[in-house]
Amino acid sequence: MIHSELKPFPQGFLWGSASAAYQIEGAWNEDGKGLSVWDVFTKIEGKTYQGSNGNVAMDHYHRYREDVALMAEIGLKAYRFSVSWPRIYPSGYGEVNEAGLRFYDQLIDELLANGIEPVLTLYHWDVPQALMDEYGAWESRRIIDDFNRYCITLFERYGDRVKYWVSLNEQNYNTNHGFITAMHPPGVKDRKRFYQANHHAFLANAKVIQSFRKYVPGGKIGPSFAYSPAYPSSSKPEDMLAFENAEEFTNYWWLDVYCLGQYPQIPLRYLHEHGLAPEFEEGDLELLRQGKPDFVGVNYYQTITYGDNPLGGVTEGRMNTTGQKGSNQSTGIPGLYKTTSNPNLETSNWDWAIDPIGLRIGLRRITSRYGLPVFITENGLGEFDKLESDDKIHDDYRIDYLKSHLLQCQQAINDGVNLIGYCSWSFTDVLSWLNGYQKRYGFVYIDRNETEERSLRRIKKDSFDWYREVIRTNGAHLHS
Ligand code: BG6
Repeated sequence: MIHSELKPFPQGFLWGSASAAYQIEGAWNEDGKGLSVWDVFTKIEGKTYQGSNGNVAMDHYHRYREDVALMAEIGLKAYRFSVSWPRIYPSGYGEVNEAGLRFYDQLIDELLANGIEPVLTLYHWDVPQALMDEYGAWESRRIIDDFNRYCITLFERYGDRVKYWVSLNEQNYNTNHGFITAMHPPGVKDRKRFYQANHHAFLANAKVIQSFRKYVPGGKIGPSFAYSPAYPSSSKPEDMLAFENAEEFTNYWWLDVYCLGQYPQIPLRYLHEHGLAPEFEEGDLELLRQGKPDFVGVNYYQTITYGDNPLGGVTEGRMNTTGQKGSNQSTGIPGLYKTTSNPNLETSNWDWAIDPIGLRIGLRRITSRYGLPVFITENGLGEFDKLESDDKIHDDYRIDYLKSHLLQCQQAINDGVNLIGYCSWSFTDVLSWLNGYQKRYGFVYIDRNETEERSLRRIKKDSFDWYREVIRTNGAHLHS
């Protein structure tokens, strides 16, 4: 679709940026906070890049005012952050920690005082360790009620000030690493457990959306999905079939449940045949149907290309967590698909394909299939940044990445996508879960590395000034 004229971004478009509690807050054991699974998992030898963890992270817990002042300077209209569940309920349920609630009160008030719309993520992977110890966290149906109680606490406390909420962040990516690659907690490789844990997460998601309708009637809520639209590696019918398999198993499996309240038929049948299907209880299907969101949150970084994978073919492959370009390996499910590289696309140093048009394609697929508004809740480039001797960071590669993706957002809006906002990942640099501190995403550089906290100084990158202009001109600067 080629448009001869382009409409601008809509008025009121939520120009934003995002973060997550464990990746920036630090203060891992302060003010009554309980342990999260990440506090424990990162301390196991060999789990993260150079043993990096979020004990101090970006020290945002103590420096949030300085960070919000920078958000105001860049002109953010929205800021997406997550609440740490064990800061609110140190044991997962039971007694609430008032100091934890107060921290987010202050953050929200500071944002509002600066004209920034808070976008609150209820869950960004840091489940309380106490629940992992007690019943295996997402592996037990007990989590549905505990998660609901925690979310209601936040709805009651912040519902008067926060309009936009994200329920679960990247359930698909987090459980894939938790139960397939063993790279996230609980660190197991078991596809049956993977699908069962996902089923509980879907039910928990639906239940809190139901509660949300009651407690925050004027608000908007949706999950954030790690969306990598699939491409076929060729037009050979075998590769097309592999591509269809990948769309069904890696995207629609989640999106259909969130948006339509039902599992897609073809993969569900396959899972039954292979003894992998989740176990349902009475009332589950009804609950899923009642949990429809107001928008689809999209975290977009790349498309993934798939090819035919015969029985006995590729299974596991190494993932690049070091920034050594070319070290990523193909992965797959024999009989369904395997990932292949796409010769038409450049890649980052972490081997992520750079594909702005893929974002437009993904936004259109969601619009055509579900007809819901979309909120881009993450998009960005993780790269090595260099702090020059004059305290500058010339991250033109990041500007190129963000600019090309935002231009495709504008094209998608002109195609008919109802895009309500765009949050870059991330505002300041953050801890990249498995890749340490060297894989940087922010507009604001933070002076630290994997092992040394250094000064934790905030330093504006070139992309900071660029994004400020984009926001100030409501996107017109993208065309200059
Ligand atoms: C998403 C997560 O997977 O992508 C973020 O929601 C994460 O928390 C981001 O940091 C980038 O991934 P990575 O692995 O490069 O940090």
